[in-house]
Amino acid sequence: MRVLGLETSCDETGIAIYEGSKGLLAHALHTQADIHAAFGGVVPELASRDHIRKIVPLLTQVLESAEVSLNSLNGIAYTAGPGLIGALLVGSCFGRSLGYALNIPTLAVHHMEGHLLAALLETPTPHFPFLALLVSGGHTMLVKVNAIGQYQLLGESIDDAAGEAFDKTAKLLGLGYPGGPKLAKLAETGDPKRFDFPRPLTGKPGLNFSFSGLKTFTLNTLRNTQESLQDKADIAWAFQEAVVDTLVIKCKRAMKETGLTRLVVAGGVGANLRLREKLSQLAHTEKASLYYPRLEFCTDNGAMIAFAGYQYLSRGIKDTDSLQIQAIPRWSMDTLQK
Ligand code: KG4
Ligand code: ZN
Repeated sequence: MRVLGLETSCDETGIAIYEGSKGLLAHALHTQADIHAAFGGVVPELASRDHIRKIVPLLTQVLESAEVSLNSLNGIAYTAGPGLIGALLVGSCFGRSLGYALNIPTLAVHHMEGHLLAALLETPTPHFPFLALLVSGGHTMLVKVNAIGQYQLLGESIDDAAGEAFDKTAKLLGLGYPGGPKLAKLAETGDPKRFDFPRPLTGKPGLNFSFSGLKTFTLNTLRNTQESLQDKADIAWAFQEAVVDTLVIKCKRAMKETGLTRLVVAGGVGANLRLREKLSQLAHTEKASLYYPRLEFCTDNGAMIAFAGYQYLSRGIKDTDSLQIQAIPRWSMDTLQK
């Protein structure tokens, strides 16, 4: 079965084709970073308009690179949520309409399920059950994955997501958008000994996260310096270290509580090198195994949506025949038991 995947939930248009017997045939990504940079963050209306502009040319590009025709597709998976309503509607409308025109099944995919399953595109693949740390711009979650479609939410952020905290803190430091990678780069020249930031919620039991307080901590710390580039680099280091340590402490706790030693890490912040370094240390001491999607599939992409969609469409699970098109900006993973 050959499945087209469409990702348009935020500021990246991602398209891919996944085939059961051959794996990923082709994928393409268009990032809108340049469009939003001038505004310091994603402007939803501009995001929607750009998805509309890019979706057809990207689809043509992916079909050409996979050397397959539109008529050879057997199913279409699109991100239906969570995300920006206008941006989601582009992928949902396009996916469902194309499915209708080609008379093939379509499926609404949960964006975070896409991230979660992206690691299964790599070898070695983790055996079920495993733990997943999902760290993106919109979500921070620890999930017990029993099988495809069987997810148990162990903990999540009660305020800002890890990526969101990176982005907002980067803005405070005057680093611009997208902030996460820029802050991580600046942290490389920071003095590890100068500042010590709190590790939120690690003193209490449980697996939830809270990152919004680190912003205020950053601002107060910054105001007590000359705000030089070195001051900012030292703060960037301390901020990153606090987020990374907090994530690692909760992963260790989740391993202890579940007895699981396979950990999948996905979502944009999964690209953070310091996080990877500290998780490797944890894996070493806990005799655990780590699984990451390749770097380009840590952040938003179409491949993870094509792959997630294939898992269900190949088992006959699809959208209803109703012509109603759904985009679900807020969508809890708890409702996913298909
Ligand atoms: O998963 P993703 O591409 O989009 C969402 O679903 O949100 O994640 C984007 C997030 C952004 O907040 C971005 O700043 C963050 O991931 N990010 C990073 C790094 N690369 C991307 N954060 C820290 N360090 C990085 N290297
Ligand atoms: Zn994402």
